[in-house]
Amino acid sequence: YLNYRVPRTRKEIFETLVKGLQRLEYRGYDSAGIAVDGNSKTTTDINSNTICLIKKKGKVKALDEELYKKDSLDLDEELCTHFGLAHTRWATHGEPSAVNSHPHRSDKDNEFVVIHNGIITNYKELKEYLITKGYEFESETDTEVIPKLIKYVYDNRENDSITFSTLVERVIQQLEGAFALVFKSRHFPGEAVSTRRGSPLLIGVRSEHELSTEHIPVQYNTATKKKIRSYYNIVCLSVLVSVFVRTNSAIIEHTNKVLYLEDDDIAVVLKGELSIHRINRQAGEDPVRAIQTLQMELQQIMKGNFDAFMQKEIFEQPDSVVNTMRGRICFETNTVILGGLKDHLKEIKRCRRLIMIGCGTSFHAAVATRQILEELTELPVMVELASDFLDRNTPVFRDDVCFFISQSGETADTLMALRYCKARGALTVGITNTVGSSICRETDCGVHINAGPEIGVASTKAYTSQFVALIMFGLMMSEDRLSLQKRRLEIISGLKALPELTKKVLSLDGKIKEIANELYQQKSLLVMGRGFNYATCLEGALKIKEITYMHSEGILAGELKHGPLALIDKHMPVIMIIMKDACYTKCQNALQQVTARAGRPIILCCQDDPEVTKNAYQTIELPQTVDCLQGILSVIPLQLLSFHLAVLRGYDVDCPRNLAKSVTVE
Ligand code: F6R
Repeated sequence: YLNYRVPRTRKEIFETLVKGLQRLEYRGYDSAGIAVDGNSKTTTDINSNTICLIKKKGKVKALDEELYKKDSLDLDEELCTHFGLAHTRWATHGEPSAVNSHPHRSDKDNEFVVIHNGIITNYKELKEYLITKGYEFESETDTEVIPKLIKYVYDNRENDSITFSTLVERVIQQLEGAFALVFKSRHFPGEAVSTRRGSPLLIGVRSEHELSTEHIPVQYNTATKKKIRSYYNIVCLSVLVSVFVRTNSAIIEHTNKVLYLEDDDIAVVLKGELSIHRINRQAGEDPVRAIQTLQMELQQIMKGNFDAFMQKEIFEQPDSVVNTMRGRICFETNTVILGGLKDHLKEIKRCRRLIMIGCGTSFHAAVATRQILEELTELPVMVELASDFLDRNTPVFRDDVCFFISQSGETADTLMALRYCKARGALTVGITNTVGSSICRETDCGVHINAGPEIGVASTKAYTSQFVALIMFGLMMSEDRLSLQKRRLEIISGLKALPELTKKVLSLDGKIKEIANELYQQKSLLVMGRGFNYATCLEGALKIKEITYMHSEGILAGELKHGPLALIDKHMPVIMIIMKDACYTKCQNALQQVTARAGRPIILCCQDDPEVTKNAYQTIELPQTVDCLQGILSVIPLQLLSFHLAVLRGYDVDCPRNLAKSVTVE
């Protein structure tokens, strides 16, 4: 955070940084740290800049308390050259601890400090080399090689006029892996340098006046070594550099103007001016970086009257599914047009197969829609977990169409799978919730699900919107298939009724809370179903395990006799999904198997189904819709159940242990 012209007290700077971290806390939260200008009374003198580093294990609140404990810091001191770095960590290398958290430093005098998102794969070699040169390491992280390396380059500089951006340029030439980085240095007060490769990086730009341009030109450093200045009069009174994926939420209260850096761009903020540098211009490369406007309101990322973001997001679903359909389905003419795909439709229709790739909940959205996509597109549809797809080196061909489903648009495994498919010539389609995300930008075409920001770590509304988006794709593909018209019309009218039915399901919250009260001390919870509702079992079980820490398994009812039946006895809680669809009779058979072993099933079923309810220990009766849309309704009680279980068990619903919102490392 830089505000060059207007001096700020240290307290104000802390508050701004801490608030930004709190907005990001849902992404990773095992430790946090900040670096701001130091506690020297003369910090307004540009030559005596010091950097004060404060790090703390635990939540941002712990860091916040720590900041005010530092007696030596004068909180009311006004700083002119301040550029603060702040970071929340989710451990990959090294346990959660203050020393392993960011910012990392070059030495005890904090000559260089760095924050990093991503992974440095050659850190061991670099570390060994730097140790032989006498540099001492204090943490177990991969990141720490970066501040040490920049100090090494600085200590061995050929002349004193070397710029901060040149140092960074030299450092990144040595790094392998993925990174988004921000550097600050005592040697370059009032300046910060930021760069990325493979990990996303967003810069928020705020200006005193209306911005006079929509672009920032890229400066090619080999072409000109002279002091680089912005060509345009962009005076950024505040520039917020954020190395995180969905940092929109940290930036939005300061500005809605942002720009996304490309791999190996080096952004320099110096005395309030932002410039972007690259070493060399590649053929076909865009020589400018556009300033974009974020379509996001601050209140969208606030909790409102809800106790947790997850709860708010569950209750937003009647609106979020409408937002996914808005402007795309015409209920008068029964047409569906996905603007992002229409130019590629011919090519998609000619393809050999569709491959749906994602992780976690996004993968479940693919499982949920596979059957209807096979029916509407008459194409083979493969569903793939991104990590496994890559592990198998799955054969992919030019005439395949590959879908990459990702709420964040940044999940490392999904992104790697995208690059893998692209390299093999397949058409790539993104289904994401984050405009400007890596998956959005790297796919050939795609659909934005428009679910609005999802803050809770456990994905809820993104799942139902992904589901709706994929169904709309199937409808668009089948528009000219005469034999499918009846089916299409049935689904379209089902989609029209969806928001109202979703509200009805949400009104069952009280009943679901009562069931949670009965279950919350259990160790394990099975969720069983088949056909269109199998994905609901997987997704429901994932929600339960990730936020309640109970063991939970989604079981395909057809597999019951092949093993899981052994788990059933009068103590094992089982949720069964039995809807009036083609699998109804088979699901009833499974129910018999369970009750015959004294199991006490909690049944999710359609309203007015005495046949099923008479065998139930508890029932949750849902409104009936078209078979292929039923999964959108049947998942909601399980989202609510997991929420209430987690609250009753005393856990932080939005920040489950060991998990982060976007998994940007493989
Ligand atoms: C579970 C959950 C995760 C994500 C997975 C993929 O509630 O949120 O399983 O679905 O990490 O994330 P995206 O969709 O951002 O690619």
